[in-house]
Amino acid sequence: MPATVIIGTQWGDEGKGKIVDLLAEQADLAVRYQGGHNAGHTIIADGEQFALKLIPSGVLTPKVTPVIGNGLVIDPSVLIAEMEHLEARGVSCQRLLISSAAHLIFPYHVELDILREKERGGAKIGTTQSGIGPAYEDKAARVGMRMEDLLDPQRFEAQLAANLNEKMAIFKAKFHSVAFTLESILNTYLGEYRLKLEPYISDTVNFVHDSLDLGKEVLLEGAQATYLDMDHGTYPFVTSSNPVAGSIGAGAGIGPKSVTKVIGVVKAYTTRVGGGPFPAELPSGDIADHLVDVGGEYGTNTKRRRRVGWLDVPMVKHATRLNSISELAVTKLDVLTGIEKLKVCVSYQVNGKTSTAFPVMQRDFAVAEPVYVELSGWEKQLSRVRKRQELPAEAVTYLEFLEDSVGVPIHYVGTGPSREDIVLL
Ligand code: GDP
Ligand code: IMO
Ligand code: MG
Repeated sequence: MPATVIIGTQWGDEGKGKIVDLLAEQADLAVRYQGGHNAGHTIIADGEQFALKLIPSGVLTPKVTPVIGNGLVIDPSVLIAEMEHLEARGVSCQRLLISSAAHLIFPYHVELDILREKERGGAKIGTTQSGIGPAYEDKAARVGMRMEDLLDPQRFEAQLAANLNEKMAIFKAKFHSVAFTLESILNTYLGEYRLKLEPYISDTVNFVHDSLDLGKEVLLEGAQATYLDMDHGTYPFVTSSNPVAGSIGAGAGIGPKSVTKVIGVVKAYTTRVGGGPFPAELPSGDIADHLVDVGGEYGTNTKRRRRVGWLDVPMVKHATRLNSISELAVTKLDVLTGIEKLKVCVSYQVNGKTSTAFPVMQRDFAVAEPVYVELSGWEKQLSRVRKRQELPAEAVTYLEFLEDSVGVPIHYVGTGPSREDIVLL
């Protein structure tokens, strides 16, 4: 029963999609277990670039069954557009399975996301404004609507009318105009969306279990990352789901005994999109510009410039603990080429005290001052490097420093954005 979880150890965009795509060659299923189209997973395979939002990154490998688990919130317009886009580029989505228990995002969720962000003013979270938070709120309030409701028009209409009633009162009170009605939503969801998605809606939990029983290889693709987790992340600057590995039970119906490997994906430096504390953040300047320009640090979907900073060891170490990470995949090592001195955050000063542990109390993390060690950089371009022996000695030292500090081995090192730009250790 070999299930492998792939999880981000920072604030997202570590290169999870690339690692899942790489591992898909030896897998049978690729399963998403939380989040929605706030995710943007980029894969470059055979010179072609794909940016996936909802469909698991295993979809590019024809023998892999991509599964959208019950833990996701789905905007059908985005999912259908993604399926059509992939099909138009010759990637078949015929094998896709969508959990009947995954929740639906409606236009009022998107409007609420936008409205709330406006109201937060300077304290805004910087959400992707795709309705993720409001859809999960409805799920927790037990008024959420699920994929299977698309197959039951009467129930669908009754619940939608009740939900819309409540949301419209909020929009009216806030003078927030909207461009939809009960009728327009019913027409689209029970018409076009149901027609397109019905063949894919199924019981994914038993499908995954039957596959595990047959000894199939299952990849569980985390979206977002450990520090965007709504319990363990930098609350309230988090997403509204639980990306941590333990969430596969809730979001895909898989218990911990099935998991044999948890791969923590670490970007060789740190990035973050949106608001919230970031102790090792670089001020604007040459090194920040280098990381953004060479690393292409702009949001896959939102195109926002990502905030950049040095590698933060206590963060990765705590993520290793939270997720039971058994091995690391370090991505974007190539981006560090040409930076003479590399800083690595090894501890923090919190209110005059040194802490080597990640400060779990957010009031501490908000004021944490990073303490750095400095390691030598290297000049060699890594884009053609495929073997450990070809890595410059300074790059090996950098990797070994991370490995020793975190206490789990590094098995993959990314040396460029393409599928083949990888060193297996
Ligand atoms: P994800 O959300 O974790 O899947 O990551 P994203 O796809 O949002 O962001 C990672 C970006 O880095 C993408 O543009 C990838 O193509 C790119 N990438 C992944 N691994 C590497 C690597 O080792 N080197 C370089 N230069 N780019 C990489
Ligand atoms: P992947 O899977 C980076 C961030 C948003 C915002 C916060 C809440 O590509 O790594 P939300 O729309 O989820 O309510 O926004 O979370 N965020 C991400 N940042 N990568 C992602 O996904 C993200 N998904 C959400 O920028 O700060
Ligand atoms: Mg991303």
